Amino acid sequence: MAPSAPPAQEPGPIVILGGGLMGLALAHQLARRDQPVQVISRRRSEAAGFVAAGMLAPHAEGLSGDLLALGQASLAKIPAWVAQIEADSGLSCGYRPCGIVVPFASAAERNAHPTSAYGQRLDRRGLEQEVPGIGERWQAGLLFEQDGQIDNRRRLMRALERACVELGVSFEEGSTVLELVRNGSQPNGALTGIRVLDAAGQQRTLACSQAVLACGAWSSQLLPQLRIVPVKGQMLSLQGPRQALRRVLFGPGTYLVSRHDGLLVVGATSEPEAGFGEGLTPRGQRQLQEGLTALLPEASSWPPMERWWGCRPCTPDQGPLLGAGPIPGIWLACGHHRNGVLLAAITADWVSRGIEAAQGGAPLPLEAAAALEAFRWNRFD
Ligand code: GLY
Repeated sequence: MAPSAPPAQEPGPIVILGGGLMGLALAHQLARRDQPVQVISRRRSEAAGFVAAGMLAPHAEGLSGDLLALGQASLAKIPAWVAQIEADSGLSCGYRPCGIVVPFASAAERNAHPTSAYGQRLDRRGLEQEVPGIGERWQAGLLFEQDGQIDNRRRLMRALERACVELGVSFEEGSTVLELVRNGSQPNGALTGIRVLDAAGQQRTLACSQAVLACGAWSSQLLPQLRIVPVKGQMLSLQGPRQALRRVLFGPGTYLVSRHDGLLVVGATSEPEAGFGEGLTPRGQRQLQEGLTALLPEASSWPPMERWWGCRPCTPDQGPLLGAGPIPGIWLACGHHRNGVLLAAITADWVSRGIEAAQGGAPLPLEAAAALEAFRWNRFD
């Protein structure tokens, strides 16, 4: 009798490190590709996906070069991405292709905006039509009809979580990833496991050969060679009248994002010097209040709702780290700085395709391969 073959080993799940927007978006796309997926998440409240304002703003943000191209490609994917999440979850993501107005003190400033060629030029009258009640300081503007917003904090995150659950993704909440375990017998040892401290205080090693690092500003705590630092942002919200502000208003240092029910999200400070320092500061909150009054004076009397802060994950060129990481088996989806909500769609699509291609599946489209190369983790060396 011929010796029987050893039982085929089940491929372990792809482990997603981080249950924020990027982690959930990856988990969702991988699960849609029939991959078994497990998400390990430490504290939901830290996730930038709950903190951001949800702008889809490659043009309003004045991006340039590869980052602008990535942002525009992701913007084009947003409607189909949202439709997938909504179909899989049965929940709305709160997507609004509402356009963004960027106001300037002068026409010369407007014309110098890096993406002015993509926008519609507005004079003072045009600004008043687009944003009734806009502050007197603003004499010119750009309207980017193609930019928009998504209600990340109240809707998108919830819908993505539900979509993942519906597709069979498993979650481990309250666990801290302590270490990426490698095969020590090889010089460039591949990933063999993830050592975690779970919610009950127990340490254990989870065997796995493929993982996606999506730990936002905390990513370089696991892989110190990744050049990511936190840039703190403070925000607040007010309850405005329904439809008081049709467009997002993106001023210098402060922006106003109005949801469908009139909730106005006011963002955001940018405090690299704060590190991971927690909490609100009088200075940061004053800055938001002054920016709000300058942009839309009547809004300073609207009732306050919430105040919060978070950490953007920032790299030296403010672009994300995507694709294969420094350890075989580790994939990166981190470092999205100010553009995480915008870039989640393309990150999830192209990184999940990269993983599939590396497993011998369909080859990566050329455009995606070029982007993963442009945003490789060691491009700063
Ligand atoms: N995306 C805007 C911000 O990070 O404040």
